[in-house]
Amino acid sequence: MYQEILKISKRRGLMYPSFEIYGGLSGFYDYGPVGSRIKQNIENLIREYYVLDEEFMEVECPILSPQDVWVASGHLDNFTDKLTECVKCGEPYRADHLVEDKLGVGCDHMSVTQLNDNIIKYKISCPKCGGRLDKVYDYNLMFKTYVGPGKYKVCSYLRPETAQSTYLSFKRYWEVGRKKLPFGVLQIGRSFRNEISPRKGMVRLREFNQAEIQVFVDPEAKNAPRFDELSSMEVDVLDGEDKEHQTTLSGAMDGGLIDNQLIAYFLGKSVKLFKEMGINPDALRLRQHKDDERAFYSSDTWDIEYLSPSLGRIELVGVSDRTDYDLTQHSKLSGANMQVSLDGRKFTPHVIEIAYGIDRPFYCVIESAFHQDDKRTYFSFPPKTAPYTAAVYPLVRKDNIPEKAREVYDNLREKGVMALYDRTGSIGKRYARADEIGVPYCITVDYDSLKDDTVTIRFRDSMQQERVKIKEIPSKF
Ligand code: GAP
Repeated sequence: MYQEILKISKRRGLMYPSFEIYGGLSGFYDYGPVGSRIKQNIENLIREYYVLDEEFMEVECPILSPQDVWVASGHLDNFTDKLTECVKCGEPYRADHLVEDKLGVGCDHMSVTQLNDNIIKYKISCPKCGGRLDKVYDYNLMFKTYVGPGKYKVCSYLRPETAQSTYLSFKRYWEVGRKKLPFGVLQIGRSFRNEISPRKGMVRLREFNQAEIQVFVDPEAKNAPRFDELSSMEVDVLDGEDKEHQTTLSGAMDGGLIDNQLIAYFLGKSVKLFKEMGINPDALRLRQHKDDERAFYSSDTWDIEYLSPSLGRIELVGVSDRTDYDLTQHSKLSGANMQVSLDGRKFTPHVIEIAYGIDRPFYCVIESAFHQDDKRTYFSFPPKTAPYTAAVYPLVRKDNIPEKAREVYDNLREKGVMALYDRTGSIGKRYARADEIGVPYCITVDYDSLKDDTVTIRFRDSMQQERVKIKEIPSKF
């Protein structure tokens, strides 16, 4: 299935490895002309859920930040993987993965010393050539660069998450938002991690897209006023002690599984969002971070994972209570005051973070929508994520049919409907092409259209056809 999806994605311009003509570079993917549209639709749906529905703000900050930002956030010291390299062939490995493969238990909590000891104890060697593995060391995942020339150059890093750049201007949002809590700030943009072994296509990239929301809250008010809207949602849960639960969001709250209502609310909102994007909801589960996995400052952290038939479990979003850690850290290092005065109290707000990747949900939308049988291959994207809403076809390329079809097409575009015009090949071939990029409606203009202003609409999923008046087309979408 994965290979088939990749093949179609390349052929139809959804996504493909970058720099292909130069042999490629692991961890980088292009969005093609069709994929870019789906990606934008995913991003716009996130905006709809947070900027429109929650009235959160949206900001855009630079991708590069000076070193101080990463000292304060802790990334310079702690954003590391434990790396070892083969002395013989030079192949790099995540040491915890090698030890994990040997012991059959998760090892990402192990220290450099523990990993070194285990490699020696269990005689773990290079899986590729059998060579000896070198000493394990902390490898920082951030890309380092310099801004400016010569002695004026400033050591900087490509951001590994959008969150930190959002925190820096907290006081500006506080002013713009008229000094009230809670409020949320969304940032959509690129992040970079120099991953040791990027793999599984878009699942582990070195340059990727995030949509991260920071909700600034009063630490004494972590209740969600709209929790009732989602409280009865049924969810599959894996708690921090590896116990599975089938429950509702309110059940998870009442049972003490989730630390606070805001986390539960945003987990529910994310499930709803993924479903509306077109991700199979039956493949989703909420997974709580274990004690040794969670950042020391976080009071509770959850991921939503999707079970891919071809790639296994994929983490799509992290929802975390980051307490006042980030604002306090930036305040300490920069000297900026990050406290607020509210209701006679002075305090540093806490942050609930909802950290979406875009590339992973993009892949999961594609995979969830993929259908293949003896007759055809198609993507059943919901209208909100489909790259185009409609395709318009002239039946033949003569007798004023193309002019009439062009009129229908222009009319749709004028109404803001994202349509495409395709006049090449048989109608059957054109349907097949539209199916392979998941266009929900195909409109054919024929000789009768010239007489009675009607067209044939063909519905992608059912393949049913219906004759409708041209002016009624938008009502069919
Ligand atoms: N600010 C918190 C943060 O960055 P994260 O869990 O490391 O948290 C959030 O990342 C989301 O970003 C993930 O759930 C995932 O969807 C996406 N993501 C993280 N690393 C990625 C990578 N190397 N390639 C593609 N997506 C990635």
